[in-house]
Amino acid sequence: RWVAVLSGGLSHEREVSLRSGRRLSAALRSTGLVVEEWDADAQLLTRLKEHRPDAVVVALHGGEGENGAVQAVLELAGVPFVGTDSHACRRAYDKPTAKSELARVGLATPEWAVLPHATFRELGAKPVLDALVAKLGLPLMLKPDQGGSALGAQVVRDAADLPAAMVGCLAYGDTVLAERYVEGVEVAVTVVDGPDGPYALPAVEIVPENGVYDYTARYTAGLTVFHAPARLDEKAARAVGELAVNAHKLLGLRDVSRTDAIVSADGTVWFLEVTVSPGLTETSLVPMAAEAAGQSLGEIYAGLVERAVT
Ligand code: DAL
Repeated sequence: RWVAVLSGGLSHEREVSLRSGRRLSAALRSTGLVVEEWDADAQLLTRLKEHRPDAVVVALHGGEGENGAVQAVLELAGVPFVGTDSHACRRAYDKPTAKSELARVGLATPEWAVLPHATFRELGAKPVLDALVAKLGLPLMLKPDQGGSALGAQVVRDAADLPAAMVGCLAYGDTVLAERYVEGVEVAVTVVDGPDGPYALPAVEIVPENGVYDYTARYTAGLTVFHAPARLDEKAARAVGELAVNAHKLLGLRDVSRTDAIVSADGTVWFLEVTVSPGLTETSLVPMAAEAAGQSLGEIYAGLVERAVT
């Protein structure tokens, strides 16, 4: 069999994706698969039709690589691929949509507000930001409604910092998701589709050195301490696993996903967001979860390739 690993692309997370693609390709080769690394560019459809890989593995992050656009091209070409289909990508990649879907069935997610750029023009920045603080309180969390790797995301503790944080967020898209800030243990839970359905790998606990798990803390070795498995009691560990499997199922995700959550002091597990194409770099969470489970990244993804082609 031979597979094409898609990485790169045009999003702000291009560099991260290239690192994920390199690591994943090496892991897949170690299982005996023949792997080509492809940059996802305008030639994709032509290349798929000419070379017809047995399967494609999507290692793209952000933008068209996670919002369903590239997946739609793969579906159009009729090439089996590892990862979530285009329709479910579109819903899961939009953070407010994912939160609404989970809140609708009673799962906890921090209270939120969606602020399209146009709102500021129509109503003026001050009344919008005042209403936001009145609704969610401080501190609050701002992030672009779509996107990843915490690009543009900020914790705002002082109302005076809100306008600048909002502008920083709007640099990555035209809509901001604001959330009530929840204190607690930050965890990431990987879910893999197995023969008996989706199952959670051990949660990974994230302790950033400067308190915020931003882009630099994510991709600079040593700036974040990870505990895999997370230092949670049995009940909380089970609850975060259940939340991640529920998110995976409710959002119709396929093969692999990663849910980010917070466990607050009273034991509540809060859903933050889900990633349809999680990072696989040296400092990423999925490889740590796999290692904590005693599984290799190559075996997991080779198993998913097999599922895709059969
Ligand atoms: N968006 C990055 C790659 C992640 O969530 O791992």
